[in-house]
Amino acid sequence: KEAKLWGGRFEESVTDAVERFTESISYDKQLYKHDIMGSRAHASMLAHQRLMSDSDRDSILQGLDQIEKQIEAGEFVWRTDREDVHMNIEAALTDLIGEPAKKLHTARSRNDQVLTDFRLWCRDAIDAIVLCIKRLQVSLVMLAEKNEGLIVPGYTHLQRAQPVLLQHLLLAYVEQLERDAGRLLDCRVRLNFCPLGACALAGTGLPIDGFMTSDALGFTAPLRNSIDAVSDRDFVLEFLSANSIIAIHLSRIGEEWVMWASEEFGFLTPSDSVSTGSSIMPQKKNPDPMELVRGKSARVVGDLVSLLVLCKGLPHAYNRDLQEDKEPVFDSVKTIVGMLEVSAEFAQNITFNQERIRKALPAGHLDATTLADYLVKKGIPFRTSHDIVGRAVGLCVSKNCQLKDLSLDELRSINPVFEKDVYEFLGVENSIKKFCSYGSTAATHSANPIRKNLINGRLT
Ligand code: ARG
Repeated sequence: KEAKLWGGRFEESVTDAVERFTESISYDKQLYKHDIMGSRAHASMLAHQRLMSDSDRDSILQGLDQIEKQIEAGEFVWRTDREDVHMNIEAALTDLIGEPAKKLHTARSRNDQVLTDFRLWCRDAIDAIVLCIKRLQVSLVMLAEKNEGLIVPGYTHLQRAQPVLLQHLLLAYVEQLERDAGRLLDCRVRLNFCPLGACALAGTGLPIDGFMTSDALGFTAPLRNSIDAVSDRDFVLEFLSANSIIAIHLSRIGEEWVMWASEEFGFLTPSDSVSTGSSIMPQKKNPDPMELVRGKSARVVGDLVSLLVLCKGLPHAYNRDLQEDKEPVFDSVKTIVGMLEVSAEFAQNITFNQERIRKALPAGHLDATTLADYLVKKGIPFRTSHDIVGRAVGLCVSKNCQLKDLSLDELRSINPVFEKDVYEFLGVENSIKKFCSYGSTAATHSANPIRKNLINGRLT
């Protein structure tokens, strides 16, 4: 068996079971790019500070280039006995270039190294997710454009409430996603600080320059406190929280679309390319992608909960428990990217069934609140208007008709305030035109800045 990089004081080697149980290489090899990036910056700083010679630095940099190429070509052999990505790369570098490699870990611990890798990895992951969010927003805006002016029933308690424009609903999703992207970008600002130099937990007595490594890696600055630097996982918790909120938003969209695709609603039809069938029922065409978006949100929330529970009760500085922080993050990112991509594809491949929706609109007295507003405009206090319209609705229910079918005499029998102009307020087409408040469903307000930016292709 090869001696461990940390093996000096040990007289026995670890058992196979312990080796298998403690390894993280099987998943943290995903960090290789960022690990190499960190080592390049660290070696350059060490040479600049005269902690290694320029020629040692050059062999290290060349060796790291070669290792990166091997990894990317799938030729690198990842070894479980070398535990994790950091020691696999360092040991391979030693195999490759010999003595100079032994200087690389000067003034560095795996504790600050792993966090450097992880922060860099999360930074890239955030950028990738934000791009996916923008793509979904564009798909939703295009869907809104395609169905411009289409009125749909608006629901509260899943009961018919008021008419809304479909674009208003779709742009509500866009607004939520805009905040989701904002949360990720806030998190990115807070996580973009450099742990290198914290070493094991206390910093180092060697004359390093933490600002130099921090700059080279695109961090804002080195972290101010070495214990904090190696202890903290709040950047991870914040990232997973932001992902969880995205997941919940997508799950709600999924639920809405699955429901709308049902025979009972029949408001939308997904194309075959985003549907799947049944192994027994030949007629079936299911909106599985959006059901799975709804379903996979559970994993993303679970990943956050894993991390919260992992951190609870841990004393400060590094504890091996913290190795368990990677898989939930990898899973959360992979899942959220998939959810965003498939939601965008679904949005690009659904048709709203205008005829069916139009036929559904008369039911449920969607114009009742508009009628109450009409009475307010006539000077009736709102509570009284509410009561009057409530009676009118009662009359409709008993006659099995719509508000607009009531004659002026019938309306006046409830209250004499009604005039002929009441019919300009009745029916969903009239009702929808009456909305005028800021942020309401009125067409003018649907032309919001997010939509304009997205349409102009500005992915800001
Ligand atoms: N594989 C470890 C992790 O992911 C790296 C840090 C290990 N540090 C240590 N002192 N054992 O957390």
